[in-house]
Amino acid sequence: MARISKAKTYFDTNKALEELNMPQTPIYFAVRACAHWFIKNGYVASKNTYQDKVFVITGSTQGVENILAHTLLSRGAKVVLNGRSTSKAKAMLEEFAYAGDSAAYIAADVWSEAECQSLIEQAIQQFGKIDFLVNNAGMFCYGDLEDTASDVIKQVFDSNVMGSVYLSKAALPQLKQQKGGVLFISSMAALNGLGGHAIYSAAKVAMVSLAQSLKKELHKTGVFVGYTYLGFTENDSEKRTLNPQGELEVIPSRPGIKPMPQHLAVLKILKQIEAKRYFAIHSLMGKTFYGISRLSELLANMILLRGYRAEKAFLGAVNSQLISVHPSERHAM
Ligand SMILES: NC(=O)c1ccc[n+]([C@@H]2O[C@H](COP(=O)([O-])OP(=O)(O)OC[C@H]3O[C@@H](n4cnc5c(N)ncnc54)[C@H](OP(=O)(O)O)[C@@H]3O)[C@@H](O)[C@H]2O)c1
Repeated sequence: MARISKAKTYFDTNKALEELNMPQTPIYFAVRACAHWFIKNGYVASKNTYQDKVFVITGSTQGVENILAHTLLSRGAKVVLNGRSTSKAKAMLEEFAYAGDSAAYIAADVWSEAECQSLIEQAIQQFGKIDFLVNNAGMFCYGDLEDTASDVIKQVFDSNVMGSVYLSKAALPQLKQQKGGVLFISSMAALNGLGGHAIYSAAKVAMVSLAQSLKKELHKTGVFVGYTYLGFTENDSEKRTLNPQGELEVIPSRPGIKPMPQHLAVLKILKQIEAKRYFAIHSLMGKTFYGISRLSELLANMILLRGYRAEKAFLGAVNSQLISVHPSERHAM
């Protein structure tokens, strides 16, 4: 009998109030604490995480962030899609027609400070506010520094770094007002400079560094700042990379590397946003390499040197099969 009475204290609200002076039962508080933990750690989205929140996602006419846009819309958010190519945007808008007024496309080249400013102003005009900025637009390039044309260096830095700088600066007053967030899509190339990708690695490290500085500058403003080390992810057929001469090429799929499906990368990004996690490394390979880099720079360099040699051999073998697209056709794609 005494045991039953004791158990009741834990389940019965009246008894909890009488005997423990608690407004609810201990079981209620335990369940609530568990639910909070799951939500905080991104395992379950809280009911209002995305409802009517306005997301600006740069470079979202294709690739991972295009899938992110669809997912956010399905969870009640409003999304500003962005890119440069009018033909890509047209096809994409048909695909997003189901979202009605919840999705808008704003063309802007993130290389231009004026266009970034205008993107933010138009987004506010359209939706009345901005809650979240995803700095994602960025060109990928390959080639040793020695062989890389100055124009390629500029394009990669301008899209990845300057675009993130201009947009974050323009969006900050809104993000502070909304106590929103900004996420930088970096790459595993930022974990330790890759041979054969010096410019891309440096640009992605700069994005991480920008996020790290902003994190301090926005301390106690309520604005979430995060960055993502995205790993090898499945590419859209339209994806192009800049070769050292500045021509756009189809990225050849590398044997032995299994890219992460785009929807999985999106779920990881959402989990990071929901948990307000400062940084996330997407793959097990990335996490392992992050650990190795912290333990031994020498070992990390040895591993990457092997990778660099293998990549050189691979690129040499497929070089003749690469499809080239002249840079002047970039906007028409
Ligand atoms: N895919 C991967 O394996 C991988 C791995 C690590 C990191 N990442 C990073 O993840 C991000 C997305 O990659 P992804 O492969 O999913 O995308 P993607 O297929 O390369 O698409 C890039 C998007 O960015 C837009 N874009 C490019 N330059 C722009 C500019 N100057 N201004 C505005 N929009 C621009 C493109 O549209 P327009 O052509 O219409 O401008 C397109 O919508 C990139 O930052 C990339 O570096 C990717």
